[in-house]
Amino acid sequence: YGDFNQKIDYVFKVILIGDSAVGKSQLLARFSRNEFSVDSKATIGVEFQTRTLLIDHKNIKAQIWDTAGQERYRAVTSAYYRGAVGAMVVYDITKRQSFDHVTRWLEELRGHADKNIVIMLIGNKSDLGSLRAVPTEDAKEFAQRENLFFMETSALEATNVESAFVTILTEIY
Ligand code: GTP
Ligand code: MG
Repeated sequence: YGDFNQKIDYVFKVILIGDSAVGKSQLLARFSRNEFSVDSKATIGVEFQTRTLLIDHKNIKAQIWDTAGQERYRAVTSAYYRGAVGAMVVYDITKRQSFDHVTRWLEELRGHADKNIVIMLIGNKSDLGSLRAVPTEDAKEFAQRENLFFMETSALEATNVESAFVTILTEIY
């Protein structure tokens, strides 16, 4: 964790989108600070965190942007998408509706973002397996059809969080 005392080779902006309460802010907290909060407050407006990683001998500064899933708290969309080279579309594996809404988030993304943006579908809260409402296979098939990378994560247990971010950053690079 933390920045290397070396020059930065690339800065990559990656955005998080998806319904409210799917865990976008906690995925970011886990990735950027290795923290997790049970009583995470709904995001208002836009926030970002950075973390520098060494990928393929290059110092890559990941600038991860997080916004509100709730419509009434969202900031201006075009500014949020501007310059983004990666996007994580997050749903909650225990909330079918959050998965059904992924289509809408993809529409918004494709309407505002660069056409070469790397997109990853993230099924978060994999620690809540007993409450699962979205089978992994359904998400996998959907991701294949839509040409998205796919991973299930748990921000709580820190499962696949690092791996998801490293995968998207590697694909961007
Ligand atoms: P908005 O900011 O409103 O768009 O929501 P968000 O997507 O940022 O959700 P947030 O990260 O605030 O998390 C919502 C709730 O889910 C909080 O109570 C978190 O503690 C919880 N949560 C987030 N990630 C996980 C996870 O991996 N597992 C479990 N069990 N709970 C999680
Ligand atoms: Mg949030």
